[in-house]
Amino acid sequence: MVFHVLTLFPEMIAEGVSNSIMARARAAGLVDVKAVNIRDYTLEKHGRVDDYTYGGGAGLLMAAQPVYDAHCAVKAALPENTRTVYLTPQGRTFTQEIAAELAKEENLILLCGHYEGIDERALEEIVTDEISIGDYVLTGGELPALVLIDAVSRLIPGVLHNESSAETDSFQDGLLEYPQYTRPEVWRGKAVPPILLSGDHARVDEWRLLKSLERTAKRRPDLYAQYAALHQKELDKMEKRRKKREARGQDYP
Ligand code: ADE
Repeated sequence: MVFHVLTLFPEMIAEGVSNSIMARARAAGLVDVKAVNIRDYTLEKHGRVDDYTYGGGAGLLMAAQPVYDAHCAVKAALPENTRTVYLTPQGRTFTQEIAAELAKEENLILLCGHYEGIDERALEEIVTDEISIGDYVLTGGELPALVLIDAVSRLIPGVLHNESSAETDSFQDGLLEYPQYTRPEVWRGKAVPPILLSGDHARVDEWRLLKSLERTAKRRPDLYAQYAALHQKELDKMEKRRKKREARGQDYP
């Protein structure tokens, strides 16, 4: 998968993908991130890319010409159906589901605005998707682009060494992740839940699902309600099993 990022701050993008798992994925040729400087495409003689907004108002707007020309240059080398995602607080809110959908693409063009945004006429010409990373306003689209690149890249086969870890993550099945523990077995007087040391994989899986359900119900009742609507039979079965364990005095601590 290749991300082509149109930005006024290419160093921010380069820096953001130069560590840890993203750096490894790039070195392995699984993901490539090409930052394109929109400023390189301006025809304004002083190299300006922004200007005042018509109708008044504070702040500067990125002009249509350099954005459009930068996009044309990138798009010319890509298949016609390549999507162009504009990062904006006005877009649909980014979710794991959208990340999974985007992970199927071979190429993605990401457009980062800065200042007050981008002249609407350029957006109308080039943008296929608008994505927000949450209901708050940042100074530019570079951090949201990095968030999207990270979330999408880790779903590409081979990027995470332990392939199953993307599958057991929070949100992957609509639930938050269960708590996890590593050595030592006792830390500051707190012991790891004994079931995790039992070696009984079926019971460990059941315990983890129970913890996921408990956490989701408590912290994200909205997600829990969605999950319950789809998995009511399974929840009923689990409740029956829990009652049996309780009757035997064997419920999980
Ligand atoms: N640009 C500024 N704020 C943003 C946000 N919350 N999401 C996506 N792009 C943005």
